[in-house]
Amino acid sequence: FSKVDRDRSVPEKKTKELDGYVGFANLPNQVYRKAVKRGFDFTLMVVGESGLGKSTLINSMFLADIYSVDYPGPSQRVKKTVQVETSRTLLKENGVNLSLTIVDTPGFGDAVDNSNCWQPVIDYIESRYEEYLNAESRVNRTAQSADTRVHCCLYFIAPSGHGLKPLDVEFMQRLHDKVNIIPVIAKADTMTPEECSHFKKQILNEVAQHKIKIYEFPETEDNEEKPIGKKLKDRIPIMAVVGSNTIVEMDGKRVRGRKYPWGVAEVENLEHSDFIALRDLLIRTHLQDLKDVTNNVHYENYRCRKLAGLGQDSKQPRAYFKNPLAQLEEEKREHDLKMKKMETEMEQVFEMKVKEKKQKLKDSEADLQRRHEQMRKSLEAQIKELDDKRKALEAERLTWEQTNGVTIDELRRRSLERDQG
Ligand code: GTP
Repeated sequence: FSKVDRDRSVPEKKTKELDGYVGFANLPNQVYRKAVKRGFDFTLMVVGESGLGKSTLINSMFLADIYSVDYPGPSQRVKKTVQVETSRTLLKENGVNLSLTIVDTPGFGDAVDNSNCWQPVIDYIESRYEEYLNAESRVNRTAQSADTRVHCCLYFIAPSGHGLKPLDVEFMQRLHDKVNIIPVIAKADTMTPEECSHFKKQILNEVAQHKIKIYEFPETEDNEEKPIGKKLKDRIPIMAVVGSNTIVEMDGKRVRGRKYPWGVAEVENLEHSDFIALRDLLIRTHLQDLKDVTNNVHYENYRCRKLAGLGQDSKQPRAYFKNPLAQLEEEKREHDLKMKKMETEMEQVFEMKVKEKKQKLKDSEADLQRRHEQMRKSLEAQIKELDDKRKALEAERLTWEQTNGVTIDELRRRSLERDQG
């Protein structure tokens, strides 16, 4: 397009303020009403070693006993292998329905040998994507069921003060291109504020060092253009949390917290833990962004891999589309390798055939030699036999000639003369 063509093809946008009321200013309300009527789906996965306070945190977060319905507590846990269990709860707040699915992974990191304990988690996440993709590809898509894709994975880190464990690194590396990971430091009340901030820095360094991509909270909310408050901003991306299901009395106030002889660790106090920050970011401000990133990045990523039929190397960082040139280069390399392999194989076959032929020639030469020798020997034997016979005949003739007083030659001459006469 020349500049003129381009200008002609895209009509200039003019803003026109209407004199009267037409009604489309009500559009956002329509969307709002529809969204409220339909309700919201959110799937939150919690991963971490048992006893790190996952169920307590989820119950504290949604102010409901989400876990008590389906889940046995840690003491009743009997399973040793990694399982994936889901619990679905319908929550209501001011007329807004939230269908919350909690995905738990009991048994994660509990075994002596934890190799591959992330596999059931990967399988679960991908099977949800697969389900969604199948539903999308159906002829009749109106019956699209609820979105069961995992929108966020809270990864619980033990408050050891010693950084990430190899299992934490491996898990996050394998999952960071499949789901939004928010690492949280569990049981933050077991650390002093200084220890906690040092631990956060250490984890952040390790995350960067291992090139792990954790969920990045966008600076502003799309719809409100409002930056994340400074209070919350200082606490991302890794939050240290305290969970409790008990209400304690403090100065006549009833608060959620953990009572110790030396005081109360309040769950909803930003000076005691980042719980409120996590809850606000996760539910109040960034729930939709988590869903969008799941849909636009992770699901899209899965869809591309699936449709392109490429192998899924989960340790690779986010590689959404393959560069066609790189693909061509790769195909050429593969082709060259194939040709080289074929060439070597053919050379090997040729060498083998030559060897075989040489051996055959050698064998037939030896055979010929043997037969020639045999024949020579048999001829020699025949000659010797004939020679013996000749000698015996001559001896016999001599004896006869002496006995008869005449030689054979004399007899032959006389008979010749008689015939002529
Ligand atoms: P599993 O269900 O086995 O996977 O364990 P979980 O990770 O769900 O832990 P759970 O919530 O059952 O908590 C285990 C224990 O830790 C309980 O005794 C909780 O009271 C305690 N706990 C939970 N959260 C915290 C916390 O923030 N700080 C401290 N100090 N203890 C906590």
